[in-house]
Amino acid sequence: MANPTKIAFLDLVTPHQELQEELLAVVKKAFSNAGFIGGPMVEDFEKEFAAFCGAKYCVGVNSGTDALRFAFMAAGVQPGDIIVTVPHTFIATTEAISQAGAQIAFVDIHEQTYTMDPAKLREYLETRCEVNAETGELIERASKRRVVGIVPVHLYGQTADMDPILELANKYKLFVIEDACQAHGAQYFSKKDNTWKLAGSMGMAAAFSFYPGKNLGACGEAGAATTNDPAIAARMKMIRDHGQAKKYYHDIEGYNGRLDSIQAGWLSVKLRHLANWNESRRNHAHRYHELLAEVKDAIVTPVEASWTKGVYHLYVVRVQDREAFQAALAEAGIGTGIHYPIPLHLQKAYENLKCKKGDFPVTERVAAEIVSLPMFPQMTNEQLHEVAKKVKEFVGARVSAVR
Ligand SMILES: Cc1ncc(COP(=O)(O)O)c(C=O)c1O
Repeated sequence: MANPTKIAFLDLVTPHQELQEELLAVVKKAFSNAGFIGGPMVEDFEKEFAAFCGAKYCVGVNSGTDALRFAFMAAGVQPGDIIVTVPHTFIATTEAISQAGAQIAFVDIHEQTYTMDPAKLREYLETRCEVNAETGELIERASKRRVVGIVPVHLYGQTADMDPILELANKYKLFVIEDACQAHGAQYFSKKDNTWKLAGSMGMAAAFSFYPGKNLGACGEAGAATTNDPAIAARMKMIRDHGQAKKYYHDIEGYNGRLDSIQAGWLSVKLRHLANWNESRRNHAHRYHELLAEVKDAIVTPVEASWTKGVYHLYVVRVQDREAFQAALAEAGIGTGIHYPIPLHLQKAYENLKCKKGDFPVTERVAAEIVSLPMFPQMTNEQLHEVAKKVKEFVGARVSAVR
């Protein structure tokens, strides 16, 4: 039987206890004026988060999924249009594509970064699509559908390689909407512009999730979209609020997708700590890298490409015998997770896409081997050592068993 949990995969209790007074003050403020929807707390948070992301506008919504969906709708996606993304992501990325009326096309990830492989994107755009000489639109040959956009996912807190993705998007007149739901504060070095850029500032728009376990988490459901385009921001604001720009004047049908004022107030409190929390995550990741270096032949630790400064939403390693690995850690009271075990193209929900095993081999290999180790800002040095010790013990026992 597994030991009682000694090192949780994620500790959400400590940060809330540490910030309890400030968080409760937000509730008292909301109770004092019954401002529960919209209002200054939402507007203030939107300004603060836009500034944090280096974007001009932020639109608070009630989940990362809605942020993606509203961004696609604001970008003018039409029924049947194709949006290209990766099969190695949380299903919300593709749910939002379908819910906006679009079709999903997948391209594989890069073996080291686990994010969209620009070479695979190029291959898809160049070999499976063609530009219609009359309209200038990019058409997928097999389906005859328009390809309109690309969604790179900044998975585990590291940005996708954006320069080549943006260059291809520019060439084929496609929008890029960043799925930054796991990457609050992650940075990308653009060689093209010779400068560091923040996740959420590079595409036509970007989506963030504030699901409680994220680097910036609400105390419930919440999300936001960022953009530098005032027209896209205005459109997303309408869509989140029943299609109205003015009360009871509905230009379009929209959704009930607003951000609660109390959640916004809580997010403002936590945003003040996010840079420090991200720094702690980076330090923990580097400590893990060092501690696990001696078993690097048996376990693959995360690779931070030269063009990214990751915020380590997750610390994901690759091992051969995953089930036994997780069982050994559970036995020692250490929590782990798998993000994500079944690639999207092989999920039952996407049988209609008629994909088969082998279609996206890098995603499939990665999905079979990944394990997320405990990672949260409040982790102690002792906890990091303890996890690394148990990982090394497991690997050591396997190596001597094989000899
Ligand atoms: C990569 C990715 N995209 C989208 C989402 C959706 O965010 P939410 O759960 O806030 O709807 C998540 C959240 O888990 C995510 O990790």
